[in-house]
Amino acid sequence: MRRTTRLRLVGALAAALVTAGLATGPGAQASPRQPTLAELAQRHGRYFGSATDNPELTDTAYTALLSREFDMITPGNGMKWYATEPQQGVFDWTNGDQIVNLARKHHQRVRAHTLVWHSQLPDWLTGREWTADELRAVLKRHIQTEVRHYRGKVYSWDVVNEAFNEDGTYRDTLWYRTLGPGYIADALRWSHQADPHAKLYLNDYNIEAVGPKSDAYYQLVKDLRARHVPLDGIGLQAHLALQYGYPATVEDNLRRFSRLGLDTALTEVDVRMLLPATEEKLAQQADWYRDLTSACLAVRRCVGITVWDYTDKYSWIPAVFPGEGAALPWDEQLRPKPACFAIRKALAGK
Ligand code: G3I
Repeated sequence: MRRTTRLRLVGALAAALVTAGLATGPGAQASPRQPTLAELAQRHGRYFGSATDNPELTDTAYTALLSREFDMITPGNGMKWYATEPQQGVFDWTNGDQIVNLARKHHQRVRAHTLVWHSQLPDWLTGREWTADELRAVLKRHIQTEVRHYRGKVYSWDVVNEAFNEDGTYRDTLWYRTLGPGYIADALRWSHQADPHAKLYLNDYNIEAVGPKSDAYYQLVKDLRARHVPLDGIGLQAHLALQYGYPATVEDNLRRFSRLGLDTALTEVDVRMLLPATEEKLAQQADWYRDLTSACLAVRRCVGITVWDYTDKYSWIPAVFPGEGAALPWDEQLRPKPACFAIRKALAGK
């Protein structure tokens, strides 16, 4: 073998060992492995999570990153009512269990989502009229069965999801119409009975900034606290869109909920844009991810951040907002975008 060829081979082997973190010996300069988002967040006593969904779990490149980079997982659909009680009294834990088991295998915790929502309900529930007594019994049974099933296996529950309108009035849902506003306190109490250790959250979108909708939560929290209803946190979903502007008061808003003695979390973060994505838009998106991350780190009781899946390959946005997308920190080929580097930098305090 010619000397130059041999030298090249030796050099390539050394580089491969360094990349793999396997280089040894006095001359070896193993570049340390880059810390994951989870590890960086843990330095602040926070978690960094991602939502995921069952169909994606056959994608091994996807699950490898999901299992490595994050320490909190949210099932995007698998624990919702249509999935868990498809027929009255018949419970199906297949999808939720699959995600919980995957998370446990990788020492990740689970933000469970969601018990009481107006969307993705099974037909048997929405297809007929219920008296208040009947519906209360149906709701209680659903909550207690599901929370008991996952007792000790999940960190928190989004107990009630999206209860308010934009103007701060109660959303006119099956629950509100039939049971009145008391369904929220009932749902929290039943959840607490079924798993006293799970953190119980109310969760909504467009409550990142101070405004009528987040004010409604602020009042509700005060009221629930005064009545000793079990409640641990408020989840700000943070489905943002570049064309609507950044919610500049997010840090103040997180702080005012903290002062009521609650945890807060950014629970479903994505930052969509009108397609095509340009370098400029991706840079602005990165700034927003950076600012959201810094806002959470600045408020003691903001316990963590979850992105609503981590790759554009599996984002819900294009199906619901045609012409929009590119909302997540990794692109469709699972390559990190500027947003990903910006989060990393914010968590590293650079
Ligand atoms: O299960 C059917 C499947 O049988 C069918 O082949 C397929 C065809 O489109 O649809 C499947 O259902 C889809 C379901 O997700 C499961 O994949 C629905 O069409 C689709 O609308 C549904 O979207 C979910 C959405 O909630 C429903 O509102 C998204 O995946 C999920 O990410 C999204 O999550 C919500 C949070 O729970 C609450 N906050 C807002 C957030 C985004 O909408």
